[in-house]
Amino acid sequence: MCGIVGYVGPKSTVDVLLGGLRRLEYRGYDSAGVSVITESGLETRKKAGKLDNLVAEIDSHLLAESHIGIGHTRWATHGAPTDGNAHPHLGGSRSKLSLIHNGIIENFSELKAELLAVGTQFASDTDSEVAAHLIAREYDEHGDLLKSFRNVVNRLHGAFTILVIHEDQPDMVLAARRNAPLVIGLGHGENFLGSDVAAFVEHTKRAISVGQDEIVILRADSVEIIGFDGSTVTSEEFTVDWDATAASKGGWPSFMAKEIADQPQAVADTLMGRVDSEGRVSIPEMHGLSAEDIKNIDRIIIVACGTASYAGDIAKYGIEKWSRIPVQVELSHEFRYRNPIVTKNTLIVAISQSGETMDTLMATRYARDLGAKVLAICNTQGATLARESDATIYTHAGPEVAVASTKAFVAQITAGYLLGLYLAEVRQSTPIGELQRMGRELLRLPALVSDVIDSLIQPKELGMELSDAKSVLFLGRNVGFPVAMEGALKLKELAYIHAEGFAAGELKHGPIALIEEGQPVIVIVPSMRDDESLHPKVISNIQEIRARGAKVIAIAEEGDTEVSQWSEHVIFVPQTEPLFASILTVIPLQAFAMALAEAKGLDVDQPRNLAKSVTVE
Ligand code: AGP
Repeated sequence: MCGIVGYVGPKSTVDVLLGGLRRLEYRGYDSAGVSVITESGLETRKKAGKLDNLVAEIDSHLLAESHIGIGHTRWATHGAPTDGNAHPHLGGSRSKLSLIHNGIIENFSELKAELLAVGTQFASDTDSEVAAHLIAREYDEHGDLLKSFRNVVNRLHGAFTILVIHEDQPDMVLAARRNAPLVIGLGHGENFLGSDVAAFVEHTKRAISVGQDEIVILRADSVEIIGFDGSTVTSEEFTVDWDATAASKGGWPSFMAKEIADQPQAVADTLMGRVDSEGRVSIPEMHGLSAEDIKNIDRIIIVACGTASYAGDIAKYGIEKWSRIPVQVELSHEFRYRNPIVTKNTLIVAISQSGETMDTLMATRYARDLGAKVLAICNTQGATLARESDATIYTHAGPEVAVASTKAFVAQITAGYLLGLYLAEVRQSTPIGELQRMGRELLRLPALVSDVIDSLIQPKELGMELSDAKSVLFLGRNVGFPVAMEGALKLKELAYIHAEGFAAGELKHGPIALIEEGQPVIVIVPSMRDDESLHPKVISNIQEIRARGAKVIAIAEEGDTEVSQWSEHVIFVPQTEPLFASILTVIPLQAFAMALAEAKGLDVDQPRNLAKSVTVE
């Protein structure tokens, strides 16, 4: 959570910091602040609420010219979202040091007690302020800022990215990273720090991902990285593969609207270079896993959270079908703490848009310690998850800014299917002709996704019409079941109304008791062409709920002649391979939830209480 930005260089620091915070605001938006060092010393502005409140504060209390500074956008953990708890926090009796922090300092109570015992005055309820005072105190003793910084970060437990500037050293930003993201942006005569590359991509595309337990000494003309133990660290530079316009609204009313529209491209880019015109799949990035490793896999465990876990639930159908490897999908936080059975022949597939979700990182670290190989499906270059995995299949969805995941989800499903086809080819578990037929069908998807996007008027109108609904239920079967859960999640997070996704077959085992006159139920109807004949079963479910008063909205494939007889509304999507239908059927649900939330006057990009990347456990 929390977004962090740092800058040293000739540009107007406050402009660089606010621009970076604007792009990072999706990480947290309950308060924001900046500190810069000017001719007259350290100056700080901070304000509760969205970034615009900070901008207004700076407009009314202007900051003098500066060429070094740090900025923060907060998602509260310790202490309410108030002006006082907003970062930066100042350290020392003369407040010459400024600090920002992302993460949680788990031993802050004990450290705070130590500071209180020597009379330190605290200005906030945060855990972060403790670190500011500790560093300042030690610096006041011996005057070596780097040494003080290193000593203190070594004393902290938990997860943190910390940035510090000090009035006495106006040419240097110090940063430390443990269990929270930090990326360096390399410029000419200027350098940047950010929670992710969005913080500085409008200035430079050259970046370095900072490793675990590393400290950065950032100056305008140099970047030095050392370990927490003081050892020298060598690092690898990478080039950011998207530009600043990809992370701007580009004329759309919201990032979410733009990202829904980006989905044909997200699927196409995720397929690019991985499926040839004959439908043959190759994934060059899999080199961290040899053919031998793949043949030895006896179980796949997909770990992920939220929307990413639903992408895993969908991918499971394809991976099992083609590769014949048993797949289980687990919420990362549940998997990590239940003593699961993991061996060296287990393949962990970790799915994460951000690659920084702490629950997923903890699950993968745990499994690696038990000897498993880890394959990441990740959307963010240089993310911790990718660095810590044996191989990474990047989803090329581009930056996803809206908190509610849309394009990353369809890209994750696409990558999951590519993985299934690839494993099946290496293990020769499905005839190659069938695998290539699937590969060719995947190549049709971007055009089909475009067709769905072009006809979103109906779900949007339904969303507006149902804006007074107190609850909406979603039903699906097979790959439609995770789609139902994803549809419900979108509605909960965007419109703050009760929504549940159920397996349609489970209905009569309990949930049907929820149905009463007028209850809206959205049903994901399987293809009439499905081998397993699930279509008639779902039609029966629709009849059962209709008989009890449900108002049915069906999402069905074109050519389904039966569903209209039993539903108030039918939203048709193009025909595709039944397994791939999830990529199409989820899109009307995204548009429906967005329209309903907008009709309620809610902020669809930044729903209450949420942050895009959940970097604490
Ligand atoms: C989706 O709309 C949510 N914002 C959330 O469930 C998200 O998918 C989850 O937190 C996982 O994030 P990740 O993909 O970055 O790991």
